[in-house]
Amino acid sequence: MFVADGITEERPITSMPGVAQHTLDSLSTAVEQAVTAGVGGVMLFGVPKPEDKDGQGSLASDPNGILNRGLRRLREDFGDDTVIMADTCLDEFTDHGHCGVLASDGSVDNDATLVRYVDMAVAQAESGAHLLGPSGMMDGQIAAIRDGLDTAGFPDVGQLAYTAKYASAFYGPFREAVGSSLKGDRRTYQQDSANRREAVRELELDLAEGADMVMVKPAMSYLDILRDVANVSPVPVAAYQISGEYAMITAAAQNGWIDRDAAILESLVGIRRAGADIVLTYWATEVAGWL
Ligand code: PBG
Repeated sequence: MFVADGITEERPITSMPGVAQHTLDSLSTAVEQAVTAGVGGVMLFGVPKPEDKDGQGSLASDPNGILNRGLRRLREDFGDDTVIMADTCLDEFTDHGHCGVLASDGSVDNDATLVRYVDMAVAQAESGAHLLGPSGMMDGQIAAIRDGLDTAGFPDVGQLAYTAKYASAFYGPFREAVGSSLKGDRRTYQQDSANRREAVRELELDLAEGADMVMVKPAMSYLDILRDVANVSPVPVAAYQISGEYAMITAAAQNGWIDRDAAILESLVGIRRAGADIVLTYWATEVAGWL
């Protein structure tokens, strides 16, 4: 779910019909509906005002940044009954749109980014997140965040590691959803879609660094990767059915070209069959109702 700063009523996301950027109040209502339908947890993304973005993504670690405010609101309203997850990544907060901070040559500086992720993670834990989802694909991010959380007194805040996250054309609608200013791509830190073996190497690294759960993303074009990871993972495996997957099925259904509900369910059954213990999907509330 998306929570946006500076809006007074929820704002539809054009490329994701049925999904909106929320105000704090409409977020709370949407989570209430999700919980009532039986959804076990929510992953929250923050959408700051464009003029509040900067090179360091400062608002990501500011207690008054919109994501941290959203987390506090959810923790207050839903206590410990629902897993409150946070996207731990800078791209929503940086003016250049990258998931990290930039070196002087314009490349993403891996190790300088880790310092920002630790600050962000601690701020999210202080705001009430139970589980962090580091999605920036920096090397060493799970270990750095684990160490930072432990040192700050949050040994029980866990990490859902984005273990195999591929550079994908299917993230397009998400970038509208968070008002991303990215030019270029994320190929220097996200994985190459042609590379299958790297996923299991990333899994071993994330486990050694302390991941509590691992994730494969996107889902539908990477079901083989999901199966590879599920076959060997000693921790729960999640899959993220991303914005472009949502948009694709929605658009085809709106044109009357496929049976919407059947296609949604089939896509989710496929993800489950490939090995996902947990599925992140923008249809969670609706599908939980069907199930
Ligand atoms: C990075 C992030 C992205 C998504 C989730 N976390 C964008 C990206 O990597 O470009 C995409 C999710 C989706 O497409 O639904 N913070």
